Amino acid sequence: MAPASSVVIRPARNLRGTARLPGDKSISHRYAMLAAIAEGTTRLTNFSTGADCASTLSCLKALGVNWERTDTEVLIQGQGSALSAPKHELDCGNSGSTMRMLSGILAGQRFTSDLVGDESLSRRPMARIIEPLQLMGAKIHSRGGNPPLQIRGGRLSAIDYAMPVASAQVKSSLLFAGLYANGLTSLEEPLRTRDHGEIALRAFGAEIHRGRNRVCIAGGQWLKAIEAAIPGDISSAAFFLCAAALFPGSHLTIPDLLMNPTRARLLDLLISIGLKISVLSLEEYHGEPRGTVQIEGDKIRGTIIAGADTAALIDEIPVLAAIAPYTQEGVEIRDAGELRVKESDRIAAVANNLRAMGAAVEERPDGLKIPGQQKLQGAEINSQGDHRIAMAFAIAALRAEGDTIIHGSDAAVISYPEFFTVLESLTS
Ligand code: S3P
Repeated sequence: MAPASSVVIRPARNLRGTARLPGDKSISHRYAMLAAIAEGTTRLTNFSTGADCASTLSCLKALGVNWERTDTEVLIQGQGSALSAPKHELDCGNSGSTMRMLSGILAGQRFTSDLVGDESLSRRPMARIIEPLQLMGAKIHSRGGNPPLQIRGGRLSAIDYAMPVASAQVKSSLLFAGLYANGLTSLEEPLRTRDHGEIALRAFGAEIHRGRNRVCIAGGQWLKAIEAAIPGDISSAAFFLCAAALFPGSHLTIPDLLMNPTRARLLDLLISIGLKISVLSLEEYHGEPRGTVQIEGDKIRGTIIAGADTAALIDEIPVLAAIAPYTQEGVEIRDAGELRVKESDRIAAVANNLRAMGAAVEERPDGLKIPGQQKLQGAEINSQGDHRIAMAFAIAALRAEGDTIIHGSDAAVISYPEFFTVLESLTS
């Protein structure tokens, strides 16, 4: 599909200022879904401004959930555990999180739902939720493991399940289904993934038991509405953090940033390659830590990202790879096969766009090797309609020689519609 929009990014000399981020996308999805099946009215402030979370809200409306939104405040009237049968297809747009996590709730409903997505979502793997939800008793049809999905929900039975893929979306989907199941649902993950599902369920009053890489939930628990201010999205902040890494002397402050340890690996990594980062005023609300972060740029070394680190940094790898040519020693990314089944094939998209900028890069089936100390030229970038690719290459463009055109820049609306405006205000 031809990209619909483009922006020009000019090289910058420095990055300075304060960036307040919209609410975390992962938490916004989960709070909205749990609010829908809770008793009472949930009030969420700093809700994600991205189109993905708007897809979740519009699916919930089609399921009989009343909500009102004013800017970034959302009031959601919980329906209790039973939602209403939708009169039309549930359009998940570009959002894998919407489709996968909502499926867990729909599996426990006494009606049939049809879930569709855009071209990119229609290519993404759903067997990872279909198989365990079928084991629990849901009847699900798909197009060979891809969307669209038809879910005939009903009575569910708990399962003891070892997840073959490390995926927080799958884990949350199965925990949500576990609320509707008879008995104790027990999940084992191959690697620890982000734990917002567990934390959100606790915030809404459910009991969850967690051991090393195992999490259990008993069925039949009722949820209660909450009031919450959602912390800033660290995966969106990643673009500015990596931009700060490009300019020794840069200075950036980010207030109210999500600091959940399953998401904040990026900060450790940036410190380990040479950035000065301090965390001020750490606080915790509803189990999610947040803090004000200050970053000062310096020369950046290089690194190898592998194993559990790859899983923990999965959404940040595109931008880390995009700044890799400017590091001293280069960056190698291993064990990242999952990146090939994101909104685009992110390994190919990163490799092709880096090459378009004149960089040397080795593409591997499950990773990339990008040498350091390279000079990049401004080029024409194809976002592949993928928000994180569009934003990652806007950052790479800041240190290139000459202007860069990002084609398909409007993909940024998926997670961070304000991105290009904020980037412009921070750079000089
Ligand atoms: C997410 C989990 C990750 C991540 C996605 C959001 C979540 O996906 O890439 O952007 O909110 O749970 P997977 O569950 O597919 O790893």
